[in-house]
Amino acid sequence: MTHEVLGVVARAKGEPVTVETILVPDPGPGEALVNVAACGVCHTDLHYREGGISDAFPFLLGHEAAGTVEAVGPGVTEVAPGDFVILNWRAVCGQCRSCARGRPWYCFATHNATQKMTLADGTPLSPALGIGAFAERTLVAAGQCTKVNPAARPEVAGLLGCGVMAGLGAALNTGQVTRGDSVAVIGCGGVGDAAVLGASVAGAARIIAVDVDDRKLEWARQFGATDVVNSRQADPVEAIRELTGGFGADVVIEAVGRPETYQQAFYARDLAGTVVLVGVPTPEMRLEMPLLDVFGRGGSLKSSWYGDCLPTRDFPMLIDLHLGGRLPLEKFVSETIALGEVEEAFTKMERGEVLRSVMVF
Ligand SMILES: NC(=O)c1ccc[n+]([C@@H]2O[C@H](COP(=O)([O-])OP(=O)(O)OC[C@H]3O[C@@H](n4cnc5c(N)ncnc54)[C@H](O)[C@@H]3O)[C@@H](O)[C@H]2O)c1
Ligand SMILES: [Zn+2]
Ligand SMILES: [Zn+2]
Repeated sequence: MTHEVLGVVARAKGEPVTVETILVPDPGPGEALVNVAACGVCHTDLHYREGGISDAFPFLLGHEAAGTVEAVGPGVTEVAPGDFVILNWRAVCGQCRSCARGRPWYCFATHNATQKMTLADGTPLSPALGIGAFAERTLVAAGQCTKVNPAARPEVAGLLGCGVMAGLGAALNTGQVTRGDSVAVIGCGGVGDAAVLGASVAGAARIIAVDVDDRKLEWARQFGATDVVNSRQADPVEAIRELTGGFGADVVIEAVGRPETYQQAFYARDLAGTVVLVGVPTPEMRLEMPLLDVFGRGGSLKSSWYGDCLPTRDFPMLIDLHLGGRLPLEKFVSETIALGEVEEAFTKMERGEVLRSVMVF
């Protein structure tokens, strides 16, 4: 049976998104049909619309979602109809070299559903990050569904599907922040604030938030920043050193994705400290700095893909922390929107007025 639902589609490069009727088939082997309950608007959706990710238009946007499994295809054992799930864009294959070595968070393969969803006229849709959840129903690989406690509100749970998980994981998984650490986070949007929250949950003693926007710094305080630095007004490297007894922070997380902020992160870190790059640079960006400093300062320089998360390990645990009142994920939801309001949400995101706009069905 084919399901006819409404979805948000980017038809052509740079053009405003439109609400379209789309056709979603029943799940085939290894697939799950999900009734989407909520889906956050992420910068990556805008990148798709602008043609910055690929040219495979039309795209069915949306990838930060939670919902209920409606049906599963043959051979699916991970989830069953009725399960409340968070969708992830990196289903672990269990077979590649990284999986075989016990490092599934570096899995190369992605079990994404193929292009089976179409526009009403049969034109194949490319689902954003293999998900496509700005739609009342979507078809994904069963491994992209992670079951969590259904007591969590969907608009909150879905955020773990992308940006918030990236930030939390940059601190908890990649940066391995632990109690007593000093941590600096450069760039305090949704991802950076999630890194601030991750550092706070891990027990960091000092958490220094850096941004160019005072409003963002005020929000960062609500997630646990102990100190804030507006880097338009003060040199962030000096400020971070001053706040850490002259040493620099144990872990510095870059959540902007630019060469100049990466350099700030590099020099604001304590000798032998850790730099985590979670911001995503564009292909033309270049970094130039003395190689001797890379050698001389020791420590580790890491990047964090999706917060090095393992959905089956991290999503249920983080939802349980949230339900126990120890992870205020609801603070990331600046507003809830309807299916037809994605363009307005993009504008608010570009103006820095929201951490997350979340579509609810
Ligand atoms: N690694 C991953 O898996 C992953 C996942 C999702 C998003 N991201 C990336 O993380 C980055 C942040 O995403 P977001 O959703 O928080 O974006 P955002 O636009 O909401 O936040 C960026 C923040 O950086 C601040 N900023 C801009 N220039 C700055 C500067 N020079 N110095 C200090 N602060 C500055 C902005 O004021 C803003 O608060 C993006 O590059 C995004 O692509 C990475
Ligand atoms: Zn794998
Ligand atoms: Zn995203």
